[in-house]
Amino acid sequence: MRVLVIGSGAREHALLLALRRDPEVEELAVAPGNAGTEVIADQYDVDITSGEAVVKLAQRIGSDLVVVGPEVPLVLGVADAVRAAGIACFGPTKDAARIEGSKAFAKDVMAAAGVRTAGSEIVDNPAHLDAALDRFGPPAGQAAWVVKDDGLAAGKGVVVTADRDAARAHAASLLDSGHPVLLESFLDGPEVSLFCVVDGETVVPLLAAQDFKRVGDGDTGPNTGGMGAYAPLPWLPESVTTQIVDQIVKPVAAELVARGSSFSGLLYAGLAITSNGPAVVEFNCRFGDPETQSVLALLESPLGQLLRAAASGELASFGELQWHDGYAVTVVLAAENYPGRPRVGDVIHGSEADGVLHAGTARRDDGAVVSSGGRVLSVVGTGADLPAARDAAYTLIKSIRLPGSHFRTDIGLAAAEGRISV
Ligand code: GLY
Repeated sequence: MRVLVIGSGAREHALLLALRRDPEVEELAVAPGNAGTEVIADQYDVDITSGEAVVKLAQRIGSDLVVVGPEVPLVLGVADAVRAAGIACFGPTKDAARIEGSKAFAKDVMAAAGVRTAGSEIVDNPAHLDAALDRFGPPAGQAAWVVKDDGLAAGKGVVVTADRDAARAHAASLLDSGHPVLLESFLDGPEVSLFCVVDGETVVPLLAAQDFKRVGDGDTGPNTGGMGAYAPLPWLPESVTTQIVDQIVKPVAAELVARGSSFSGLLYAGLAITSNGPAVVEFNCRFGDPETQSVLALLESPLGQLLRAAASGELASFGELQWHDGYAVTVVLAAENYPGRPRVGDVIHGSEADGVLHAGTARRDDGAVVSSGGRVLSVVGTGADLPAARDAAYTLIKSIRLPGSHFRTDIGLAAAEGRISV
């Protein structure tokens, strides 16, 4: 099988490494990739938001399967174009990708499917903002205001704050730039990311993971695209995972089928485990980053065959997934000033080691690997238990040198110390 992966992050690096372990995968290509993926796949620089460009590339290199990593090409219909050209594609149609691309659509689907999620209201008129903020914030029994961009914002369109002025300022700036705002009630409880391979009504869950969205230790500072993750979750009972699949993901998949927007690809349920049980924070239409780096490090089943089965309507007969024992911890190394405008162009030392996945990296003409984005690397450690996996990840990240870079030191720490319970 010849597989083309679309994207350039550490998630795509993790996908390529897992695909390479599948004995049926003979050739790997990536577009556009980064300085880490170029050593394991043929790399092509095409416009990945253009269905036509991706199809031309897939035809030229004879891809049997295209795997689309990021949400933007999916929301723009790249998977539709690939399928229309007769090439198997792992990733939902433009129509189904609205589950991530439009929070209003996702709320409507969840309401119809009877799935628990935060109460919400869309505000598209600045004149209605203050009254809506009054309905959603403390003291109405809530810990904070949750203000989201209705569309795609790479995780950074979300502000969760107990400060009304900060909530108002974020909402007003979104409205000023023409983006409708979603106000949500705050869901209390530990967060879970559950990735499910889905084809129509067939749902195959992967290991549950937890990610860390704030930039600083102790969940301080602004939201980011994700600063780290670990899997599996020692504090999450198997029965809760089953409940999430049966009461949340399957009904949503069935509702999408009923609407004629059948989902084929990776359906990512972001949840809070509240005192009343799991409730959805968001759905995404693709693998999450950085959780994928941890989850795929533990996957024993052949990833290429799994994704091909979903893409060709054969997921129901794929069988149960196999996993390695133990845990995986991912820590993101971010550039100076991230999640603001990152410092780029610095030489990175130590990025070639096993377990170091590349994201914002590029190779300079002289061969040096330099930083080229905000989240520069994902470092993955595995171990028999969470403390051992944390040790492995932190030992590795401390061996890397990038001027001005920063990382969180508490990824998986609360779980390792048994401080999370549901
Ligand atoms: N881990 C957050 C995301 O992928 O959106």
